[in-house]
Parts: sequence; structure tokens; C-alpha cells
Amino acid sequence: MQNKACVRAHTNIALIKYWGKRDETYFLPMNSSLSLTLDKLYTDTMVSFEEDLAGDVFYLNDELQGEKETQKISAFLDLFRKEKKTTAFARVESHNHVPTAAGLASSASAFAALAGAANRALQLHLDPQTLSTFARRGSGSATRSIYGGFVEWDMGTTSDDSFAIEVDDASWDIGMVIVAVNKKAKEVSSREGMKRTVETSPFYPAWTQAAKKDIVSIKEAIAKKDFIRLGEITEANGMKMHGTMLGAEPPFSYWEPDSIRAINIVKQLRKEGIPCYVTMDAGPNVKVLCRLSQAETIKTALLSCFSADKLIITGPGAGIRELTAT
Ligand code: DP6
Repeated sequence: MQNKACVRAHTNIALIKYWGKRDETYFLPMNSSLSLTLDKLYTDTMVSFEEDLAGDVFYLNDELQGEKETQKISAFLDLFRKEKKTTAFARVESHNHVPTAAGLASSASAFAALAGAANRALQLHLDPQTLSTFARRGSGSATRSIYGGFVEWDMGTTSDDSFAIEVDDASWDIGMVIVAVNKKAKEVSSREGMKRTVETSPFYPAWTQAAKKDIVSIKEAIAKKDFIRLGEITEANGMKMHGTMLGAEPPFSYWEPDSIRAINIVKQLRKEGIPCYVTMDAGPNVKVLCRLSQAETIKTALLSCFSADKLIITGPGAGIRELTAT
């Protein structure tokens, strides 16, 4: 029996953000979100279920991981073991492929790759939509990394229907320039940040209402291939999410002086007639949504403030795919 598989999953950047859970056990979100899968940032994960292992073993970038990291992987693999009705432990080897600037390794590609590899290794034959509900249980944003291009994560009503949906392959001159502002570990993780915001920010109800409208508008913009509208909705939605954090108790923000420098360069480029829009996640890095054909021009403008190793140009990425099987 084949019990080993290696799967590649690309990371994704949300244009309509997931920020807040209505159920923390099942990772059910407060709102639907929509992302762009990226080609340059991905994780390759090999999973091998072996009867003679005494416990799960986890290597990340060739380094054996400790108890805490391995426990997260084990809890996630338990979902698959339960489905297969097996107790076999697994050897997991993961490699993050993140060009130059670090600090961009993502739980989205990590759990999507792990889900894909576990599914194949155990021959569960879960379809991509169902697989996305499994990926979700590792990290919410991983739900969307099962597919390529523009992907919606429908908030659903239960654990079974809170899954990812392919929206569009984004093959209409769509790109992203990532400004890797800072590679330090974040002070407030996205998990903790969203929880604090849901529990304490008086702006939170306004966020969920706005996100509900934004998801409808952005899908209309994508259907019409209206890049300007797509960018405007993306930028506004990200800003609204960051606004909720300032209202939390205690308040927090992921912004750094360099984030604002990057945003100002983007605004200037817009004045010069180059459509490009920013979005930020739970960290100071700035992602610039742009026409892929104009990404080099945008990179050149950003070089006035940032070194080349901090700037990554990427296009739309594909969904998960198997690399090897034995
Ligand atoms: C700001 O998926 O990292 O990037 O579900 O707790 O693992 P958990 O959170 P995570 O949160 C991502 C938050 C975000 C927005 C987004 O990707 O939609």
C-alpha cells in the first residue's frame, strides 16, 4: 500500500480578510474571505505513515522540530488518522520555499501541503473542497491554499460547508509585489490578535458588516475583470481590518514606519497613473496588488526605500499538486 506522498501548496494573500472566529475548535470564521494564491511562495511537504514509528516525527527545513511544533502537527494528523481509522504515526518533512527575505513563511501553505500529503499518503481520496475543510482545522487561511488564483472561503453554516471555492484563475495580468519590511517574529500572533479583536473591539461588528458587503463587491469586480475596483476594495478592506485592532483592549497594531513608507510610494505611483493597491496582514509587510506587467516598474519605485532582497514579485499561483508518490 502506498503510505507516502509529497505535496506542494502555495501561500495566499487575502484581499478580503479573515479576521475572527465564531468557533475556535473548528476554525469557523466570522466572515467569508477571498484571496489570491501566489506562485513564488510555497511549501513542499512529504508525509510517510510508518507502522514502526513510536510517535510522529517532524522536520522543518531539514531540522528536527521539538515537542511543541510536533504536537501541532500530530493534532492535525489525528483528523486524517480518524478518517482512515488508523493509529500509524507519521514522518513529516516540510520545506518552505520563500525567496530571499524571510518572515513570510506561512501557515496557509504549511497546512494545505500537509493536508494534501496526508490525504494522498492515506489514500483517503478526499475531494479538494472536503480537503479544504480539513486544511482549515490547521489554520484558517490554509483553507484557501488548496486552490489557485482567486479563491473564496465561504464561511458556511457548519464545519462541513465552511470550505474554499475557486473563483477565477487570475490569469488577466494580476501580480503582487511583496515588501518584506521586517522578519522579526510578531508580538501578537494572528490567532491571538483576531481573538482579542473579536472579544474587545467595539469596531468589530462594523467589520463583519463591511466584510459581508466587500465580498460581494469584489466578486463582481473579478467577474468583470475590473482591476481598479478590485484594488480599491482590497485596499479598503485591509485598512478596515487594521482599524479594528486599534479599537481592541489593549490596542495593538502591526504597522511599522517602513510599512507607511511603502504605502506612500504606492500612493505616489497611483498619482502617476499606475494602478496599484496595498494590503497588509498580521505583520508589517506590505503587499502591493498590481498588474503583473507593471510589477517591475513598481519594484523600481520601491527600490528608492527598500533593498532588492526585500522586494518579491509574484504572479498567481496554482492549487496543491502532488510531487512524488512511492
Ligand atoms: C490577517 O489563518 O493565520 O492573514 O486560523 O488562527 O491559524 P488561524 O489564523 P490565520 O489568520 C490569517 C489572518 C490574516 C488574514 C487572512 O489571511 O485572511
